[in-house]
Amino acid sequence: MTLTESAVTVSTTAAPVGGPSLPQQRTLVTAIPGPKSQELLARKAQAVSASVGSTIPVFTVAAGGGVLVDVDGNSLIDLGSGIAVTGVGNSAPRVVAAVAAQLEQFTHTCFTVAPYDSYVEVAEALNRLTPGDHEKRSALFNSGAEAVENAVKIARHYTGKQGVVVFDHAYHGRTNLTMALTAKNQPYKNGFGPFAPEVYRVPTSYPLRDGGLSGAEAAKLTITQIEKQVGAGNLAAVMIEPIQGEGGFIVPADGFMNAIVDWCTANGVVFIADEVQTGFARTGTMFASEQFGIVPDLVVTAKGIAGGLPLSAVTGRAEIMDAPQIGGLGGTYGGNPLACAAALATIETYEEDGLLERAAEIGAIVREVFGAAQATDARIGEVRGLGAMMAIELVDAATGEPDAALTARVATATHALGVIVLTCGTYGNVIRFLPPLAIGDELLREGLQVVLDALAAN
Ligand SMILES: Cc1ncc(COP(=O)(O)O)c(C=O)c1O
Repeated sequence: MTLTESAVTVSTTAAPVGGPSLPQQRTLVTAIPGPKSQELLARKAQAVSASVGSTIPVFTVAAGGGVLVDVDGNSLIDLGSGIAVTGVGNSAPRVVAAVAAQLEQFTHTCFTVAPYDSYVEVAEALNRLTPGDHEKRSALFNSGAEAVENAVKIARHYTGKQGVVVFDHAYHGRTNLTMALTAKNQPYKNGFGPFAPEVYRVPTSYPLRDGGLSGAEAAKLTITQIEKQVGAGNLAAVMIEPIQGEGGFIVPADGFMNAIVDWCTANGVVFIADEVQTGFARTGTMFASEQFGIVPDLVVTAKGIAGGLPLSAVTGRAEIMDAPQIGGLGGTYGGNPLACAAALATIETYEEDGLLERAAEIGAIVREVFGAAQATDARIGEVRGLGAMMAIELVDAATGEPDAALTARVATATHALGVIVLTCGTYGNVIRFLPPLAIGDELLREGLQVVLDALAAN
């Protein structure tokens, strides 16, 4: 069979239409992966760089609400949202309508060549929604990493300084500067150096693994290290994820974030919150910073901003955002009109459909299910997170040491039972739950029970 014939075989499968009207149920009609996914996996191996991995070995034909349907007709429960992207659900109706309407009008002009109003409207929405009532400006980009890079550019230009402080367990992306900002070597950095200079790493607050330091104690250690090893006079920015994502859904102890923000303010250092994963209703507020009572100078957003279309942004104090020269910020596709249309529809959906409240409800269910399980299974070292950004850290029951092997077995077994979960953590021992906020209670509980079953069997 030629590749062309093979492609036709797959694409003529009667694929269901995605969106919330997809049957909200877990149905396995083949083993995971089924024969058609296996065929596509073989083609992937021949066509796609082996360095581009996939978490679950099935190929998608439709998704919506809380399910993803694969090419073999299996309907899987989605507890990952494409890594915290489809908070409003896949092919959410407002997003589909807005993007379809925009497609009929124009697909691209490049905002820095011939502007259009939806870009301005997204900037206005971001300025309204991000923490603080000071005057703000926004600039739009494509990916989280690109926005992170731009936040650093802006902070350096504004302060006239170069140093950037980031934290243990941080993840900020895979481009050259963001690899330098990211902590974990495997798989993100290994063999890809040299990395960008003037990046300094300091300890964070990790209550389970820092001996239970209070937020103030952890911040004191961090600030001492910044002062002794970098010096505020050399420092443009401190960048932090309010809850660390890839690093393991680490929630800092109370007071840690506030102390770092206060130090930045007192020392002329730009405080940047990377809300790429925590942003957009995920934690039960529009941004996680709100729950820590902090007002960042710059906020970086992406992922959940546009219902699955590629868009990212830097939003912050007008005097900082306006500092670089005209033409210093931009790019061919940043704030593409289709992505802007999607973002406006996505933001409307979060606000109109009560999805912030829904995130809190989802978090309560995850906490209830795993809190109960933790009482009888000491391998669940911690249940943590905020809103619908929850995780369990799996440990050796006797020693409390991270158990990455168990975590991998549980994730694989969960996938085989038709539930998509993602792992994370510096030590590879965290299972994270990032369901679409459009998921129903019943499906969510079924998905979580599958994880418990997989844990019990391993
Ligand atoms: C906190 C954080 N920052 C930045 C990024 C990079 O975003 P992207 O993959 O869109 O470049 C991610 C992606 O997971 C992230 O979680």
